Amino acid sequence: MAQNIYDNPDFFDSYSQLPRQVRGLDGAPEWQAIQALLPDLTDKRVADLGCGFGWASRWFREQGAASVAGFDLSRNMIERARADTSEPAIDYRIADLEMLDLPEAAFDLVYSALAFHYVADFARLIRMIRTALVTGGDLVFTIEHPIFMAAAHPHWTLDEDGRKTWPVNGYSVEGERRTDWFAKGVLKQHRTLATTLNTLIDAGFALRRVAEFAPTAAQIEEMPTLAEELERPMMLLVAATRV
Ligand SMILES: C[S@@+](CC[C@H](N)C(=O)[O-])C[C@H]1O[C@@H](n2cnc3c(N)ncnc32)[C@H](O)[C@@H]1O
Repeated sequence: MAQNIYDNPDFFDSYSQLPRQVRGLDGAPEWQAIQALLPDLTDKRVADLGCGFGWASRWFREQGAASVAGFDLSRNMIERARADTSEPAIDYRIADLEMLDLPEAAFDLVYSALAFHYVADFARLIRMIRTALVTGGDLVFTIEHPIFMAAAHPHWTLDEDGRKTWPVNGYSVEGERRTDWFAKGVLKQHRTLATTLNTLIDAGFALRRVAEFAPTAAQIEEMPTLAEELERPMMLLVAATRV
């Protein structure tokens, strides 16, 4: 059973105040880059894994998706997603991605934002997603970038020239990472970039596009604090197709 930190009341209160939860997709600086990876949504059957408050699930439907199935481990998240959605074609369910089994060839797009780095058995999850997609179906997901996640104690330091620096250590040691983010000991799963991409290839996906989110000049002008995202990649974005 996965750690369900989003049902920790203190964690949930703090997380709910993040711009991406208050403002939705427009509060997520990587959203534009994600949109560039998404296929046409018209009449698509979509699964949103780790759907959180359901912001993307609702957007898929607005773009013409035939149906959206949102899954999340957290009861808090699913209750909020249900409360914010008045749309019978969107179905939210509590489910653990470590054990989720979707029906065969039931989806045209599987989407996931910032959830797969909580999953220990990534290979099982990716094989299951492949089975759940139709041939030619798309998998688009984001995770915390392995460079962002690898260190035992990830935080900004200043180098001898006063430049902001993000440590990378233990990069090739895959597995559990515990960080203090809104709560002590939040459990995540570090995998190298090679493992992440090769898991897709081994399962029978063709990589369509890979992106390492970096803010645009316009985004930095609007929100100067985003400039630090130029120092190291925080998010990895992947688009793949079931072949
Ligand atoms: C950073 S939030 C992202 C939520 C949403 N995708 C978004 O972009 O706003 C990560 C989500 O993954 C969910 N999650 C973490 N581990 C999970 C698991 N094993 N199974 C299902 N959902 C999980 C959390 O409950 C949380 O809602």
